[in-house]
Amino acid sequence: MRDKFKGKDFLSFKDFTREELEYLVELSVYLKKKWTLKEPHDFLKGRSWAMVFEKNSTRTRNSFHRAAFDLGMQSVYLRPDELQISRGEPIKDTARILDRYYDGLFIRTFGQEIVEEFANWMQNPVINALTNDEHPTQGIADLLTIKEKKGDFKGLKIAFTGDIFNICHTTMVAAATFGMDMYIACPDYMKPNEVTYKEAQKRAKGTGAKIVFTTDFDEALKDADVVYPVTQYSMGQTKEQIEKQLKDLRPYQVNMDALKKAKKDAIVMHCLPAHRGEEVTDEVLECPQSVIFDEGENRMHSIKAILAAVTL
Ligand code: CP
Ligand code: NVA
Repeated sequence: MRDKFKGKDFLSFKDFTREELEYLVELSVYLKKKWTLKEPHDFLKGRSWAMVFEKNSTRTRNSFHRAAFDLGMQSVYLRPDELQISRGEPIKDTARILDRYYDGLFIRTFGQEIVEEFANWMQNPVINALTNDEHPTQGIADLLTIKEKKGDFKGLKIAFTGDIFNICHTTMVAAATFGMDMYIACPDYMKPNEVTYKEAQKRAKGTGAKIVFTTDFDEALKDADVVYPVTQYSMGQTKEQIEKQLKDLRPYQVNMDALKKAKKDAIVMHCLPAHRGEEVTDEVLECPQSVIFDEGENRMHSIKAILAAVTL
C-alpha cells in the first residue's frame, strides 16, 4: 500500500479506492495510539513542508503544525499576501520554486483546479487542505471518528444538512465507498458537483449504499446513525448567496426535536466551525451525543497519517 501513496498528491477522495482510504484510517489509528501513549513518532525528521492558506482555518492549520512537530519535520507558513503570487506571479512558477525548497505543499484555496495546477507543476506531494469542491483531510478524520464511535461503516445511515459544498462532496464519496447511506436534506435547487455526484453514485452501486438528496428533513433523519450538520454557507461565497441559503436552509436546523428523530444512539458530527442557531443549536452541540471535539482532535491524527503516507 505504501507505493500507492509515497510521493503522491492527496487532492480528492475520488482518486482513492476503499482499501487506500482504509489504509489512511488505520494509519491514523496507529498514530493516535502513539500520541495517546506519548510515544515518539518523529518518522519525518529532516523534512520541511510549506503551507499556504488562502482562507481562514483553526483546525486544519493548527493540526498540520502540531502533526509536523510530532513527526519531527518543519512546517513553514507562507502568507499568500506576502508571496509574489498575490502580485501576479503565475502558479506554475511559484509551484516549481517551492518544489525546489520543500518536501511538499499543504494548501487551502478556492477552486479545485488551483490545487491541481500546483500538483501538476510540483514533483513533491501536494495535500488539499480544503477547496470549494473537497475537504479530503477532513474526510479521513470523519471516517476515523465514525469507526471509533460506531465500530464499522457498512449499513450506517448519515443524515447530512447544510451547504452543498466541500464537506458534502467528500462525505458523499466517503459514504458511497464504505457502504453508508447518506441522506442529504436541502432545498431542491441546491445541487452537488455533478462529477462528484456521479462518482459517488457509481461507488454506491458497488457497495449497496444509497446517496439521496431530499427536501424532506424527516426522511433524512429517520433511523440515522450519524447526524452531520455543516454551516449553511461557506467561505468565499457572495453576500447574496449567503443570505439566500440562510433563509432557504432555515427549516433544516438540527435542534433537539430534529435529533430525536434519528436513532437514540445517533452521534452528532460537525466539521466545525459551527454557527450556533443556524444549522445547529448550542444544545445539540453540547449534548452527550455530540462527538465534535473528538472529531476535531482526529484532524491532527489523520493529517499525520496522510503526511506519513505521502512521504515514507
Ligand atoms: N473543519 C475545518 O476545516 O476547520 P478549519 O476551517 O478551522 O480548519
Ligand atoms: N463549508 C465550509 C467548511 C469549513 C471547514 C467552508 O468551506 O467554509
